[in-house]
Amino acid sequence: GTSGRRPDPFAGHASPMGHGNMVRKEDARFLRGRGRFVDDIRLPGMLHGAVLRSPYAHARILSIDTGGAESHPKVRAVITGADLERRGMAWIPTLSHDVAAVLATDKVRYQGQEVAFVVAEDRYAARDALSLIEVEYEPLEPVIDAHRALAPDAPVIRDEIPGRTDNHIFDWEAGDAAATEAAFAAAEHVSSCEMLYPRVHPAPLETCGIVADLDPVSGRLVVYATAQAPHAHRALYSGIIGIPENRIRIISPDIGGGFGNKVAIYPGYLCAVIATSITGAPVKWTEDRSENLMSTSFARDFHMRGEIAATRDGRIQGLRVQVLADHGAFNGTSQPSKFPAGFFHIFTGSYSVPAAHCTVRGVYTNKAPGGVAYACSFRITEASYLVERLVDVLAFDLGLDAAEVRRRNLLRPEQFPYRCATGWEYDSGDYPRAFELALEMAGYDELRREQARGRRTRAETGEGTVMGIGLSFFTEAVGAGPRKDMDIGGFGMADAAELRVHPTGSAELRLSCMSQGQGHETTFAQIVSEELGISPDDIEVIEGDTDRTPFGLGTYGSRSTPVSGAAAVMAARKVRERARLVAAAMLEVSADDLVWDKGRFHVRGDRAAGVGIGEIALAAHSGLELPEGVEGQLDATCVYNPPNLTFPFGAYLCVVDVDPGTGQVTVRRFVAVDDCGVRINPAIVEGQVHGGLADGIGMALMEVMAFDTDGNHLGASFMDYLLPTSMECPSWELGKTVTPSPHHPIGAKGIGESATVGSPAAVVNAVLDAIGVRHADMPLTPAHVWSAIQGRPLRT
Ligand code: CDP
Repeated sequence: GTSGRRPDPFAGHASPMGHGNMVRKEDARFLRGRGRFVDDIRLPGMLHGAVLRSPYAHARILSIDTGGAESHPKVRAVITGADLERRGMAWIPTLSHDVAAVLATDKVRYQGQEVAFVVAEDRYAARDALSLIEVEYEPLEPVIDAHRALAPDAPVIRDEIPGRTDNHIFDWEAGDAAATEAAFAAAEHVSSCEMLYPRVHPAPLETCGIVADLDPVSGRLVVYATAQAPHAHRALYSGIIGIPENRIRIISPDIGGGFGNKVAIYPGYLCAVIATSITGAPVKWTEDRSENLMSTSFARDFHMRGEIAATRDGRIQGLRVQVLADHGAFNGTSQPSKFPAGFFHIFTGSYSVPAAHCTVRGVYTNKAPGGVAYACSFRITEASYLVERLVDVLAFDLGLDAAEVRRRNLLRPEQFPYRCATGWEYDSGDYPRAFELALEMAGYDELRREQARGRRTRAETGEGTVMGIGLSFFTEAVGAGPRKDMDIGGFGMADAAELRVHPTGSAELRLSCMSQGQGHETTFAQIVSEELGISPDDIEVIEGDTDRTPFGLGTYGSRSTPVSGAAAVMAARKVRERARLVAAAMLEVSADDLVWDKGRFHVRGDRAAGVGIGEIALAAHSGLELPEGVEGQLDATCVYNPPNLTFPFGAYLCVVDVDPGTGQVTVRRFVAVDDCGVRINPAIVEGQVHGGLADGIGMALMEVMAFDTDGNHLGASFMDYLLPTSMECPSWELGKTVTPSPHHPIGAKGIGESATVGSPAAVVNAVLDAIGVRHADMPLTPAHVWSAIQGRPLRT
């Protein structure tokens, strides 16, 4: 009778009450192509913007002639840096105590930098008109190499800053230099290694975009944008353009992946906002793939020198690191303002390290600005890679098994809470358990035997691939962060939750965080369901609209569950306490005599005498006589200021086969044991891990934003900037341990980015183990692996 329509796959699924696997609520629209992304927004009379970008990495602007573009019949406005200068908006403050150009005025400082903005009746006309703008450039020597940036004769990139004579941005250090020096002086053995964490890009499927709509009558600005932090964006726009916050509404519709790329405000956004104020019409700007890769942020680009002091049997005594951080043309890194190198100084990783010290020096280069925490907690990926590579180098130098060296140094459960040598307090962990589980799942000893057999066969026949086994053990630090220690752009990092319970018992949870595909509509409903016994299907999660949600700093650094998740729990518990008072009035007993049992209060000793949360919600809105001081309704709010970060961790093992003739790497197996404390939705957690592991394979084997000596970007499309697909990924083998966070109200730690942090080292360690090379930098492309092999004979 339904004319052959297939059954609805989303109908009839009984959702669990509370935590557990549950089909993602949001997938019903995503899988049917009914998501609503920024580029789907079409407003009446909407115009389209396009950005003219610099072809040079470093050049002086001699003149800009916009006449040709302005006479294009469909062009409504052309905006240049000079126009912005007149409005005092050519330069804007960054999140890292610097300023950045919105549209270039004096010079261009990287290839792809924004030079002019054209507004036209359609996207094609806007793009066509770009070629009618004539810019006269005087090319200057570009500074591409971060070391060269510090040379006394290097051109000064930021010569617009009065008195500036070099490209040095900051020096920062953490840890105890003297204690570390002493540990090294006394050490039986020191291994050191230079390594690069190359410049990569978060490369979300959906690029960045905006629709800006300023109502000329009310003066109210509505912005639809790919914003991971809508409230922070509103405050920033208000500060920059001078419209009071109450007249700005930011709407983040569905987001097709953020990974840190959608935290910042980019020049294209501001140009669209300025363009709507000039034209009086809504203006849309959507960047294309090349624009996204070339100019909208970057990640990593850390040149690291690490040293590890140890006993001859591989017990770590100290760690020392010097980093040269390539921050591009403007220091626009998105991170808590007191940490210029993010959380890099958690580089002692998962090991008991008595003394550690790091220095980080930031430099300007002629590359895109805006180092973002690409799927990690502010530079912790670089830190984790560094220590996991150093431990393998140590094992290599001492002729020890890499698993054994880790075993000898992993933090023991009784050391928690553990204060690491650079001052962070790890909340909880049982590292040996996770590590041994990963080895057991992988069959580590048998893998080593197989490897030995393979080497013998290859020695005899000279044929076949070589197999490698790579390990990594990571500690993430997520849920930024305690307000006293952490702020972004001056805003403390607390987040809020507002929970409304309707008279008929369904509910609405309003949050300041913002899903980019992580499934918040499902998991946050489950969090409330667990606390109140309302079905998750009856709990609507609202995010991404500043008019409908409370203030907070948004989603990045896996902070949603640690911070907003905790806020949701606390709000739900407040609701429950209100419900207790209402239930007491309904049952005419003392509130102290009520027992909570899965969505229902009953009288102690009499299970039959009770009322459910739905009945209580109705009564709370009814004419029921409530005790003195009880306001009625159940709604509650919580602003959660986390007492500490949460420290998820994991043990990863990767098995690769390398063809020594071609350098081609095949990832055969990947075992990942993750511990993110209590899991709200195990299937979603596993999905997050799958994505992060694919990220790790990408960075380890193929992703890199390379430049030629003129500063031309060599990875400006997915033809050149390679991403892994399912073809390059094995069938992941996942395991788990559960060590609750002691300070999170339900013991949950973040998981979103753990695998991106932990996996690159496992893949690199596996490839180098296969070819018997001490160190080679990412990405281990076939050409790179092949030449690494040539530098050293195969260990056969
Ligand atoms: O901040 P972001 O959403 O990127 O990261 P997250 O807080 O780690 O959460 C990612 C997804 O995994 C969300 O849907 C979480 O609610 C879910 N999750 C979970 O089910 N259990 C955990 N212990 C941690 C996260």
